[in-house]
Amino acid sequence: MKLLVVGGGGREHAIIKKLKENPEVTQIFALPGNGGIAADASCVNIGAKDIEGIVKFAVENQVDYAVVAPDDPLVLGAVDALSEVGIPCFGPNKAAAIIEGSKVFSKNLMKKHGIPTAAYETFTDAEAALEYLESANMPIVVKADGLALGKGVIIAQTREEAKEAVRSMMLEGMFGKSGSQVVIEEFLTGPEVSVLAFTDGEYLVPMVSSMDHKRAFDNDEGLNTGGMGTVAPNPYYTESIAKECMETIFMPTIKAMKAEGRPFKGCLYFGLMLTPNGPKVIEYNCRFGDPETQVVLPLLESDLLTVMQATTNGTLADTEVKFGNKNACCVIMASKGYPQSYEKGFEMTIGEEAVEHAYVAGAKLEAGKLLTNGGRVIGLTAVEDTLEKAIESAYRLVEKVHFDNAFYRHDIGQRAMKAFKEVK
Ligand code: AMP
Ligand code: GLY
Repeated sequence: MKLLVVGGGGREHAIIKKLKENPEVTQIFALPGNGGIAADASCVNIGAKDIEGIVKFAVENQVDYAVVAPDDPLVLGAVDALSEVGIPCFGPNKAAAIIEGSKVFSKNLMKKHGIPTAAYETFTDAEAALEYLESANMPIVVKADGLALGKGVIIAQTREEAKEAVRSMMLEGMFGKSGSQVVIEEFLTGPEVSVLAFTDGEYLVPMVSSMDHKRAFDNDEGLNTGGMGTVAPNPYYTESIAKECMETIFMPTIKAMKAEGRPFKGCLYFGLMLTPNGPKVIEYNCRFGDPETQVVLPLLESDLLTVMQATTNGTLADTEVKFGNKNACCVIMASKGYPQSYEKGFEMTIGEEAVEHAYVAGAKLEAGKLLTNGGRVIGLTAVEDTLEKAIESAYRLVEKVHFDNAFYRHDIGQRAMKAFKEVK
């Protein structure tokens, strides 16, 4: 079977490595992939947002199954375009991807269908938003409606900060069209949990839970990033909370999307906060998380391709989706300066012991050498019987990777270690 994976980060590398475990897979194309992914797939220089280019390539190369991983092509309708030419595809169509593409849509969906989330108001007019902030309680959260590279959420401690966020999004066009509407919502507190789930539109299977580390530096200091490391499972996500989430959040969301005429197929990502008043949805993503995928998929014992195809064919209820009982830890190594400006082009070496555990996010191949080519450069994942061992092993793998100007957090998993002790 010939597969095509759209995207080119650590998440896509993890998906590709897992897909390769199926002996029927003869070739995987990555569009565009990256220099590290090139060790596991044929990288083709077609951008993830070039829908026309992707479809043309898939047809010409007689691809049997495609996986669209990033948010942009999903929201732009890549799955619709591939399906139209008869190529079966993993991921939601454009109508369903709106669950991530528009926060106004997702908040209204939750309100209409009684799914627990932060109280909110939506605004299309900056004056009205500013007026509302005059009497709102602080802190408060201001969110741009559309995709904003994970930067469209401002947690404002003061009224002035909140107003500034509204002005920059709605009047100064900081996120372009994505900020022309905003959601202003209640500030929630509690541990955060990421739950990715496979769904075929009717049936849903949650994957093992995980915990992201979004801030750039140790002790959750520094700017928000795409994610500096993850562990799975997430100790806060107990069996009883999982059951509650299934009943009050996961299945109601699948039913709501179906009722709206937008059945969701693929991977639905639930960003949850376990508040004193129960689990609530912070955000939906219409795709696998990055770097959640780098800890979740290594724990999957079932065949990924079979499960993905079941979401496309509507046969997920009859398909085994099994996760091992182990713990995973992924540490991201980034370029100094990330998530702001950073230099690229440093040679990277990956020790032999680390290759199997490495998910390359930003690198290119030049004259046979791997050069850094992004903010997040590489993730190293270890799977062990305990979280403590997984953390230790992941950091041992980090020592096998070298490039100039590298930085990483030293405390990935420490919050989870503490939580294990609290929860148990
Ligand atoms: P997002 O980009 O939607 O994932 O949001 C980024 C981060 O902002 C989340 O991971 C939360 O830590 C935080 N956040 C978003 N919404 C809220 C909220 N209503 N209350 C508290 N924190 C929030
Ligand atoms: N790690 C968070 C995300 O993928 O959105």
